[in-house]
Amino acid sequence: MAIPEAFLDELVERSDIVDVVSQYVQLTKKGGNLFGLCPFHNEKTPSFSVSPDKQIYHCFGCGKGGGVVSFIMAIENLSFPDAVRFLAEKNGMTVPEESGDQEIPRQRRRMLDLNREAARWFYAALNSPEGAKAAAYLERRGISRKTANRFGLGAAPEGWDKLLIAMRAKGFTQDELLSAGLVTAGQRRRESGTRSVYDKFRDRLIFPVIDIRGEVVGFSGRALNADQEPKYLNSPETLVFAKRRLLFAMNLAKNTKRSNIILVEGNVDVVTLHQAGFDNTVATMGTALTTEQTRIISRYTKELVLCYDNDPAGKKATEKALDLLKNSELSVRVLKLPDRIVDGQAVKVDADDFVRSKGADAFERLLSGSGGGMEFRLGELRDKYDLTDDVQRLEYLRAVCLMLAEIASPVEREVWCSRAAAGAGVTSDALRQEVERQRVRIQKNGRKQYERTLARPARNAQPQEKKLHYEDVRSAVAEEGVIRLLFLDPSMISECSLEPEDFTSAFLGRLYADLRQRQREGRSLTPSALAASMEEGEAALLTNLLSKPETGGQAKATLRNYTDVIRQERIMKSGDLEEISKLMRKKNNLE
Ligand code: UTP
Ligand code: MN
Repeated sequence: MAIPEAFLDELVERSDIVDVVSQYVQLTKKGGNLFGLCPFHNEKTPSFSVSPDKQIYHCFGCGKGGGVVSFIMAIENLSFPDAVRFLAEKNGMTVPEESGDQEIPRQRRRMLDLNREAARWFYAALNSPEGAKAAAYLERRGISRKTANRFGLGAAPEGWDKLLIAMRAKGFTQDELLSAGLVTAGQRRRESGTRSVYDKFRDRLIFPVIDIRGEVVGFSGRALNADQEPKYLNSPETLVFAKRRLLFAMNLAKNTKRSNIILVEGNVDVVTLHQAGFDNTVATMGTALTTEQTRIISRYTKELVLCYDNDPAGKKATEKALDLLKNSELSVRVLKLPDRIVDGQAVKVDADDFVRSKGADAFERLLSGSGGGMEFRLGELRDKYDLTDDVQRLEYLRAVCLMLAEIASPVEREVWCSRAAAGAGVTSDALRQEVERQRVRIQKNGRKQYERTLARPARNAQPQEKKLHYEDVRSAVAEEGVIRLLFLDPSMISECSLEPEDFTSAFLGRLYADLRQRQREGRSLTPSALAASMEEGEAALLTNLLSKPETGGQAKATLRNYTDVIRQERIMKSGDLEEISKLMRKKNNLE
């Protein structure tokens, strides 16, 4: 039987490691830690340490280490469940014998029920006199009632506590409303009559965010007045709402008969496109595309069409998404919305603007004519130069060579060489030769630079346990650093842009995933809590890495350094010339 994680967390929290170890080992204080003679090997000078802060033990002599549970396992020679029972008994706790703890699932279910009720209430409000303003807004934006219903759109009326009162009447507590992000706790200002807790969404058009299982996980509310800030207000991250793992309208788009998924920037773009027959459209919620989202998309389609706003921010977002998608199995196209010039200035055009002014057919033509990522990037590059000017044309060609040199496939390289050459009025032979020269240069320099500066082997960094041996020591040392830092300062967990797959050590990657999940679920983040369910060698590796010194302060910069190293190692091993040369460029810029 699996022991419920929440129970384990609590058990570990209640079993102070100093108390437990003291019953077997005589400990003396030295600095912040306690030391004693290791009970696991023979020694005359104490190298066995216990950290009250981290709630772990570690022996610098024999390398053993872990949390309170692994200590009991080792010293009492017990299996994991027996050690848990042993400790539970000491604490007057009973190990739940049924298949686990229902607390987190129960809270999730409750929050989903609350969200559903809230969505119903917003929906009813839109269709009542209170929602007249939002209804008029929908009409102004050309969104039909039928479309609004399909998305379950709603209205948050003016006022401070209408939703709060309605949901309390349905039996939900103020705390439940707070953790679902439906109400906000403000400052107490009793004299002015303002309540301390009030509705988060007020006087807004409500877009419920529905996951692929059909659960309402959160809300996005658009301002109805021009001066209302922010324009869009989203649910905060909750037990059920994680923006990086959600796509607005994926619940509808997953059923499309179209062969691809279109990604746009905004909620209204999604709604307008669905209304125009493009029921394959989704959006992220004001954030950059993540690997989690691409993974969800690739479950339903093989092709993703990027259709971001036609403005500098949208172009940047496109570049970024293209970069991310290089490593995914999705094939990518970029739908370029045409420029609109007002008073000689290019202004933002989004999918909604375009479809409403030019119609669905025009959008369909853009869609079928949209090219791949390379076409987009070449186009962007070309727009930067005046090709009628000889000097600029040369500069353009130089930049093109660098870009084409990074294409891995010879056939694709050939195709793009001919295209780019034709555009710039040179023979494709000449361009191709130059591109191949660039490739040789990148390969040679990249390798040299890597060997000179980056690949210095780290010695003595291997874990004792054979199973856990590091294949890429340089990366693993940085990975250890990341883990150490996150334990020291858990607020950095949400700052860390790495994915568990970025880790070369499977164990450290799992540890990282576990940390992230625990933080999301609001569970204990102490080393001892994590060590509780580890094997002996793993726990020892964890305590060992935690015992290594970490430079204080500057957590963000340190994390960035570690992250960079991990990424560099990954890139150098991938043999991806585009990435290698990007890395070199970055390094050269720094020097
Ligand atoms: P945009 O500012 O591009 O607006 O935001 P839009 O989609 O064209 O909106 P309309 O047409 O004026 O209604 C794009 C997306 O970025 C997020 C929202 O998800 C929005 O749909 N966003 C924007 C926010 O989360 N907060 C904001 O304050 C603004
Ligand atoms: Mn818009």
